[in-house]
Parts: sequence; structure tokens; C-alpha cells
Amino acid sequence: QEHAPEKIDYVFKVVVIGDSAVGKTQILSRFTNEFCFDSKSTIGVEFQTRTVTIKSKVIKAQIWDTAGQERYRAVTSAYYRGALGAMLVYDITKRQSFDHVARWVEELRAHADSSIAIMLIGNKADLVDLRAVPTEDAVEFAEDQGLFFAETSALSGDNVDKAFFKLLGEIY
Ligand code: GTP
Repeated sequence: QEHAPEKIDYVFKVVVIGDSAVGKTQILSRFTNEFCFDSKSTIGVEFQTRTVTIKSKVIKAQIWDTAGQERYRAVTSAYYRGALGAMLVYDITKRQSFDHVARWVEELRAHADSSIAIMLIGNKADLVDLRAVPTEDAVEFAEDQGLFFAETSALSGDNVDKAFFKLLGEIY
């Protein structure tokens, strides 16, 4: 449900992180807008917003995209500053992107607020025949690290809203 800006109770900053090409920009676009088939690799700092109602509070989610910085291993601490939530995305068809998740968690623990809520996202769940990361592996890792977990498809839109609402609800 969308609302006029003057009614906003809270603004929550959420960062989207993970290896390059796992679908971070598409997940963000799916939540705030539309899937874009020929999305170029992200350049420049940017965020998008969507205002939602959770437990009768109007929350403006300000969602930041890494802007391709992760390719240069130079995601700055400014990017994490003030973030209350993080979407840590890997690609279920790329084992390496899942193997790097632990590094991303370390990065969050080093730069973000210690109370940050983290949602681990296995994206591209529509590519069932190409799956390289079993769901159980991710569930185990998430439980171990105290993360929330969901598998999504930015292509079909499956689970994307649900994952964001879960994360935003946990922040609030
Ligand atoms: P960087 O900007 O380099 O950090 O990449 P990114 O993580 O933002 O990935 P992006 O959203 O640009 O998506 C990378 C590619 O994967 C694009 O060609 C997308 O169309 C494709 N893609 C993203 N999400 C999905 C998905 O859920 N399913 C499928 N099949 N393809 C997807």
C-alpha cells in the first residue's frame, strides 16, 4: 500500500550487497518498480524507495544498491552508515557467490551497526536446472550466523516482496 510522503512514520535505510551479477539491482527494481531485462551493470551511487505499511506504521524503505563497487572490492563504510537492514544476495546457480557470503557478513560486521538485521537471499530461484547451491546449505549457514533467509526470483518476482517485508518488519 502506497502513501503520501507527509504520513511517513519511519525511514529505514537498507543496503543490498553481494557479488557482482547475482541480481541485486533487479531485486531492488522488482521491489520498487519493475524487472528490467537488459539491466546494465550498475554505475554510480544510488538508492530507490518504496513506502509500505507494517503493523500500522508507514515506513519509507530507502534501499541502496552497491553501484557495482563490489567489483573493485571497495564498498565504502559510508555505504553502510545508518543502515538498519541488509539484503545479502547470492546466485543459486553460482557456487562462488555463495562461498563469498561469509566475507560479506564479515564486511557487514566490520562496517555496519551491530544491530543490523540481515536477510540472506538466494536469487535466481527460477533457474531450477542450473542450481549449484542446495537450499539446505544456505539454511544451515543462515541459522549459524543468525541471518534470515529466503530464495527469490527477481525475474518472476517470486518471494521478493515477502523477503523485504520480513526484513523491514524485523527492523521495526
Ligand atoms: P552488478 O550491478 O554488477 O553488481 O550486478 P547485480 O548484482 O546488480 O546484478 P543485476 O541485477 O544487474 O543482474 C545480473 C543479471 O542477472 C542480469 O542479466 C539479470 O537480468 C539477471 N537476473 C537477475 N535476477 C534474476 C533472476 O531472478 N532470474 C534470472 N533468470 N535472471 C536474473
